[in-house]
Amino acid sequence: MSVSTVTTTAFAGQRPGTSGLRKKVTVFQQPHYLENFVQAIFDVVPELKGGTLVLGGDGRYHNRAAVQTILQMAAANGVVRVLVGQGGLLSTPAVSCVIRKHGAVGGIVLSASHNPGGPDGDFGIKYNVTNGGPAPEKITEAIYERTTTITEYKTYQAEAIDIESLGEYTLGGMQVIVIDPVSDYAELMESLFDFDKIRAWFASGKRMRFDSMCAASGPYATRIIEGLLGAPKGTVVNGIPLEDFGGLHPDPNPVYADDLVAHLMATDAPDFGAASDGDADRNMVLGRNFLVTPSDSLAVMAANAQLIKGYAGGIAGVARSMPTSCAVDAVAKKLGLPCFETPTGWKFFGNLLDAGKVTLCGEESYGTGSGHVREKDGVWAVLFWLNLLAVTGKSVEEIVTAHWQEYGRHFYSRHDYEAVDTDAANGLMTHLRSQLASLKEQKLGAFTVALADDFAYDDPIDGSRSEKQGIRVVMTDGSRVVFRLSGTGTEGATLRVYLEKYAADAAQHGVATQTALAELIVIADQLAEIKTRTGRDAATVVT
Ligand code: G6P
Ligand code: ZN
Repeated sequence: MSVSTVTTTAFAGQRPGTSGLRKKVTVFQQPHYLENFVQAIFDVVPELKGGTLVLGGDGRYHNRAAVQTILQMAAANGVVRVLVGQGGLLSTPAVSCVIRKHGAVGGIVLSASHNPGGPDGDFGIKYNVTNGGPAPEKITEAIYERTTTITEYKTYQAEAIDIESLGEYTLGGMQVIVIDPVSDYAELMESLFDFDKIRAWFASGKRMRFDSMCAASGPYATRIIEGLLGAPKGTVVNGIPLEDFGGLHPDPNPVYADDLVAHLMATDAPDFGAASDGDADRNMVLGRNFLVTPSDSLAVMAANAQLIKGYAGGIAGVARSMPTSCAVDAVAKKLGLPCFETPTGWKFFGNLLDAGKVTLCGEESYGTGSGHVREKDGVWAVLFWLNLLAVTGKSVEEIVTAHWQEYGRHFYSRHDYEAVDTDAANGLMTHLRSQLASLKEQKLGAFTVALADDFAYDDPIDGSRSEKQGIRVVMTDGSRVVFRLSGTGTEGATLRVYLEKYAADAAQHGVATQTALAELIVIADQLAEIKTRTGRDAATVVT
């Protein structure tokens, strides 16, 4: 048992995307592939030597093997203590919570989020920093740079640690503590939400269905919702994390969580439905016969935050990613709250949260969160809604439709074209960029363009600038068409087209979303030449 230095050669393409390095499991299974990336983390973050590291993942295939590899490398690189979730499991928000609570230097999250798992699926690794949030771009770029020149890594050859049992172990000079993945997180939730009120809501006979999609939220939802909040057994379904997510696609949206949607549309539907993704940072919420868009969910949370224990003192401000609808802007305007527009990627909220500029943040990609951790948080969002239902006594539909009456409705939809030829996708974006200058004030159908640009963000806290964050075409009535290439796909390119139309008039609020957006859908195709350039007749996924 000793530290050894292993000779390696660099792999191309280890640049982290929107949320870490994601590749097929088979790519990660190549000898040295994971090791090179992990050594690059230790090289770029020297404070890990002598510090505490949090380690866990969403339980997908290769999670356990990767945990053992990383433990051995951590021991060889001078980490003094690793807190690892039992079975290698920690949801992404739980990693954030544990880093913050235990003063760790950082954490490694093993997840490809909502991407399918299993031997033929995806795997991923992401480094989170001391504030509990994803590493900022200057660190992820430094890690990437390091992977391009790496020639050796350090590891400590030893027997595997029994990560299935809670307890303390040693690996060389390093302490390994296998922690309960749920308890720190559950304690934080109890400090934010009124568990008594939610218990009373369930006790009054209200029903919920939480679909964990065979992924990381299962243990959290089961312990908190069925355990601490007294919901009947069976409230949480697909609650046991599986290495291949039971063959499901653990992405909580109406397309992949169609079984949940069907249950909430049925005649005996429960009052509230929710789902979460692979690593439990995303959420979808719905009421009986009623879907809530993530953008609306954020706006409703902001408008009602004062009703929730942890936010009763008021919120400092709100933030949304650029493609997220402007529904929350309307709330911020009315309440006189600062409202920030950031690029896609939760990491952009970190500085605003650390500086106390915002309390609530959200993204159209089924992500919502607050300053309680530095990741978006699926179970937190569900508890927020449960708490809101419990204190208002209203249904989800009543809450959202009343919200639209007060603030107007922002019809919203995202059309994804997945696994598109990369050159075709880049060509499409270049073509869009070339039109920007001439679009202003142009008439497009019934709309007139007010602003057309390639979104750039100047971080108000650290002054960093992020360019080329998506093409936005904003109309004079506030309607928008936004185009971006996904930063999280693993096959070819994914074109995302975001469509938004504002309707102040309540008489319009009942129109079907795709109908309300029909003209903008045509405009989007004309501007971007989607059909001809991608060769696709229709979007792969519409949410
Ligand atoms: C991950 C990130 C989010 C981001 C989402 C979509 O979930 O954590 O912050 O919004 O991916 O990213 P994409 O680049 O695929 O649109
Ligand atoms: Zn996720």
